[in-house]
Amino acid sequence: MMINMNDAGSISELLNKAGKKELSDIIRYFCEKSTAAERLALSQFASEFRNKYYGTRVFFRGLIEFSSYCRNDCFYCGLRRSNLKAKRYRLSDTEIIECCTKGYNMGFRTFVLQSGEDTYFTDTRLCKIVFRIKELYPNCAVTLSIGERSYNSYKKLFDAGADRYLLRHETANEEHYMKLHPKGMSLGNRIRCLYNLKEIGFQVGTGFMVDSPYQTYETLAEDFIFLRELEPHMIGIGPFIPHKDTSLNDFYHPSSTNTLILLSLIRIMLPKTLLPATTALGTIDNSGQKKGLIAGANVIMPNLSPLKHRSDYLLYDNKLFTGWEAAECKPEIIRNIESIKLTPDFSRGDYVGLKEKNDCRLILKHLKSK
Ligand code: 5AD
Repeated sequence: MMINMNDAGSISELLNKAGKKELSDIIRYFCEKSTAAERLALSQFASEFRNKYYGTRVFFRGLIEFSSYCRNDCFYCGLRRSNLKAKRYRLSDTEIIECCTKGYNMGFRTFVLQSGEDTYFTDTRLCKIVFRIKELYPNCAVTLSIGERSYNSYKKLFDAGADRYLLRHETANEEHYMKLHPKGMSLGNRIRCLYNLKEIGFQVGTGFMVDSPYQTYETLAEDFIFLRELEPHMIGIGPFIPHKDTSLNDFYHPSSTNTLILLSLIRIMLPKTLLPATTALGTIDNSGQKKGLIAGANVIMPNLSPLKHRSDYLLYDNKLFTGWEAAECKPEIIRNIESIKLTPDFSRGDYVGLKEKNDCRLILKHLKSK
């Protein structure tokens, strides 16, 4: 297979047309055989695509990890139900709103409310919180990242004002999915949730871990095909990092290289997507976030959660909560972004082309509440 490294357009076309075999060959080539110069060219192409749709802007999302309780038992995750060593906490409505207020005053215009699948947070409770945030900060986007729920539940949350939803598919290969998740969870349901969210009108984010146990170039190719079909508005990928109290604790891949390559390939394949440089990337590589942005990412999600709880939301070992990860380090983050000639941007940072639709929804809501 020939990859023409002289032209970004032809790589984009190739990635969009390729079937599973070709895609897995392309990914294998870049991960195993490519030269540093080829990887550099790839990241430059990716940046060109990002700049074409979003300019040099890097969007900020304020992350609020509001509950570490989880009914699920995903084998890779430190918050899994059977990890009895995990410290569990839950923020009150007031504490969640306080995080938003703190974030708003720091300039954030998107709040990401993330938690384990905590049954305490019923639709009624969550809708009340979402509604209150939108009432206080109508010009801000609210993103939810709270796992699998029913169509009706997603619809209620959307009607309460939530704008976006993040739910990683984790892997688009059924067998691989079963190796990472307990019986009772299924890829089918995860995918159904994602299509429901899209149909309801959320801006949807999905994604997967890189170098997760049992991942192969073939399963990655299936991830790419799934992403092409779903066309999510955001794609979160980051390295798998073992957690010492999970059964997958001895799979260790301490490298950011593959994540950086995949970020670039995804940017070139789906150039309009919002791509975060994730915490996991920053955790295994001191300059991971910076490298992620250079590879084509354009979102960062600093943490706004109360300081006393940050060390209790441990999806994996050594999770970062300083520097790029901490909202309190905003000046340092801004300096870092500017040092690579990108532009920190504190607007809502919607998916390109969506603005009008969102504005209409806000006006409708406003009229309804009159
Ligand atoms: N390493 C890296 N990422 C992880 N996640 C969960 N556990 C780990 C881990 N051990 C990711 C999953 C999940 C997101 C919230 O965090 O992809 O969707």
